[in-house]
Amino acid sequence: MKLGTIGTSWITESFIQAAGLSGKLTLTSVYSRTMEAAREFADKNHAPHAFDSLEEMAGSDEVEVVYIASPNSHHFEHAKIFIEHNKHVICEKPIFSNLKEWEEIYSLAEKHGVFVLEAIRNIHLPNFTILKDQLHRAGEIRSVLFSYLQYSSRYDAFLRGEEPNVFSPAFSGGALTDLGVYPIYAAVGLFGKPDSVFFSPVLLRNGIDGSGTLVLNYGSFVCTILFSKITHSYIPSEIHGEKGSIVLDKVTPIKTIELITHKTGEKETFGVQQKEEDMVYEIENLVKVIETNDQEEYQRLKELSRTVLHITETARKQNSIVFGTEK
Ligand SMILES: NC(=O)c1ccc[n+]([C@@H]2O[C@H](COP(=O)([O-])OP(=O)(O)OC[C@H]3O[C@@H](n4cnc5c(N)ncnc54)[C@H](OP(=O)(O)O)[C@@H]3O)[C@@H](O)[C@H]2O)c1
Repeated sequence: MKLGTIGTSWITESFIQAAGLSGKLTLTSVYSRTMEAAREFADKNHAPHAFDSLEEMAGSDEVEVVYIASPNSHHFEHAKIFIEHNKHVICEKPIFSNLKEWEEIYSLAEKHGVFVLEAIRNIHLPNFTILKDQLHRAGEIRSVLFSYLQYSSRYDAFLRGEEPNVFSPAFSGGALTDLGVYPIYAAVGLFGKPDSVFFSPVLLRNGIDGSGTLVLNYGSFVCTILFSKITHSYIPSEIHGEKGSIVLDKVTPIKTIELITHKTGEKETFGVQQKEEDMVYEIENLVKVIETNDQEEYQRLKELSRTVLHITETARKQNSIVFGTEK
């Protein structure tokens, strides 16, 4: 399928590289806010067409599917333009700022008969599928601890008094929507929708969350999620069952999975060596959904994304974290 891209940062380059490796998408067009930057990015990535108008790129026959990697607050308006031109959308996480946007986009996509898919890499990894298959071996799950604490280089700029997009309420930033979505996706992918959500954030000077603890209550167990963009952690993630504990090196990308059986102390490792360019897996899965018109998988992914957005919106509301587009 013919690919157009929005955004010219490293993540778009990673996607383009993975798209090439997958053999599923051919880059034809890139967009940047200035023609100079668009041309430069097009040349660097061997794209035949450069645009500084979203309308023109959306109207081009050279684009069948668009990959959106603009700041979070722009995902909604960017997706809308392409759907209105009957183009499929692969949109970076967090897909939209809130459920209101989500509902509007999915109803528009249905009207135009196109797919809208969230680019969230961890649930498409082979090791996530292996984890899901082996989960029962831990026995009855009683607690879960997922951690994703990664000091952001952009926090240095924030400390200097600047406001990078990822730390800005105007751009729907914050640790919850930036990093928190990965462990939330993992939890919802493994355990489904929680009964309740409780969020305790660490708020920065502009009211955005720099880190936080999210508690997802599943009735018979609790999943605690720690995430941060202002500190770092070296602890693994764990799933605690009555028979054994599953230890993950990280919640994304999961490279190693170890089951430790309590009574015997026996350790068993699972997991395969995944490709370094792990966006290949999400691209393969998402393009397959579009190409095969796999409505069942589409509904599953849609529901996952809706549930994750419901959790982040609930968590934000509990703490009066309001995005610019919501004011
Ligand atoms: N999947 C992953 O592993 C991963 C990793 C990083 C980021 N992401 C996601 O990718 C998206 C982009 O993240 P990022 O860190 O690359 O964001 P960013 O650097 O703030 O912006 C991305 C692009 O949007 C354009 N842009 C920047 N500021 C803008 C503004 N004020 N108004 C309109 N456009 C603007 C720029 O492109 P032009 O100047 O060319 O127009 C820029 O290259 C986010 O949704 C993020 O969550 C995903």
